[in-house]
Amino acid sequence: MKKKIAFYDTKPYDIEVFDTLNKNLGFNYSISYFREHLTADTAILSRGHNAVCAFVNDSVDSKVIEKLSQYKIGLIALRSAGYNNVDLKAAYGNIHIVRVPEYSPHAVAEHAAALILSLNRKTHRASYRTKDRNFNINGLMGFDLYKKTAGIIGTGKIGKIMIEILKGFGMELIAFDPHPDSVFAGETGVKYASLDELFKKSDIISLHCPLNRQTFQIINAESISKMKPDVMIINTGRGKLIDTKALIDALKEKRIGSAGLDVYEEESEYFFEDFSNQIISDDMLLRLLTFPNVLITSHQGFFTREAMQNIADTTLRNIGDYLAGKKLVNEVCYRCEDTPCRREKEGKCF
Ligand code: NAI
Repeated sequence: MKKKIAFYDTKPYDIEVFDTLNKNLGFNYSISYFREHLTADTAILSRGHNAVCAFVNDSVDSKVIEKLSQYKIGLIALRSAGYNNVDLKAAYGNIHIVRVPEYSPHAVAEHAAALILSLNRKTHRASYRTKDRNFNINGLMGFDLYKKTAGIIGTGKIGKIMIEILKGFGMELIAFDPHPDSVFAGETGVKYASLDELFKKSDIISLHCPLNRQTFQIINAESISKMKPDVMIINTGRGKLIDTKALIDALKEKRIGSAGLDVYEEESEYFFEDFSNQIISDDMLLRLLTFPNVLITSHQGFFTREAMQNIADTTLRNIGDYLAGKKLVNEVCYRCEDTPCRREKEGKCF
């Protein structure tokens, strides 16, 4: 009998990529594609399935985990790198959580670079003008990236590629990471600094750290007060890395230069959906959209052909390993909060 996968928050491009690989890799799972987000109310849709596949704005909280465990679901396969939407403690011992630790760090870093270039040179605004046959360039002045300082918070896979890209523009690079990579620093010339120094010196700050207890609202009123008044803040990490109210206050008071956001604190209700004919009740999101110096994209950093292929490939293999009783190489462990599980040597995590 075909194994059954409950797939939440489905978009047409998911079906296209997953159906093709499901067939081509020979898994031939029966995949039920649900448009709904995974929540305590929609968890029931997964009854009778062997595994659940969830995305970034699905809520894998303790209630959801309790329900999925009742339905004898033993695996949640996240088709994302981030896992901040999962209550790992509640999952521990009840349900395995796997993720896609790497699918294309280039996709996200290149999108962060696109945000910098568009925001700085205002190509998105220039495009509206020229389409309207308005060839005036008033208000579109940018600055040279060359010799400016970029501060990178988080020098993992994406942060490192971002550093390489920005080096190409001749920028000075500084970085903060609790686990600095001295070999990488030696090779690239990036200088690790304290967070305070990074806030103080950077012309552009780009966030590439995971969302966790230490990084929650790492950009807040206090950290903004340490920054240059024309700093550009780029967030392709997670929305909650920024205190949105503090960002809006700083934008209103011209205490920061601009912000490029691919993620937003309360994005789960809106991002990936078409609200063009509906009333949006989130006043902070609407306020952000009014600033000429804010550029928002809808969590599309990951969205390249290559990344989608890799996401589907790893997700289907993760599910295959679970169903075959093999070791879960991409398990996210509550104890380690990492992938792979660092307690592997001590035996199984649970
Ligand atoms: P990674 O795990 O390779 O690197 C994360 C780095 O952040 C590590 O070097 C880690 O030491 C560092 N870090 C941990 N705590 C920190 C702290 N308190 N301050 C500064 N750095 C800290 O992760 P990767 O693949 O580079 O992804 C980074 C984040 O990007 C993900 O956690 C995810 O939230 C986000 N992301 C966004 C996507 C999008 O479509 N916009 C797609 C993929 C990832």
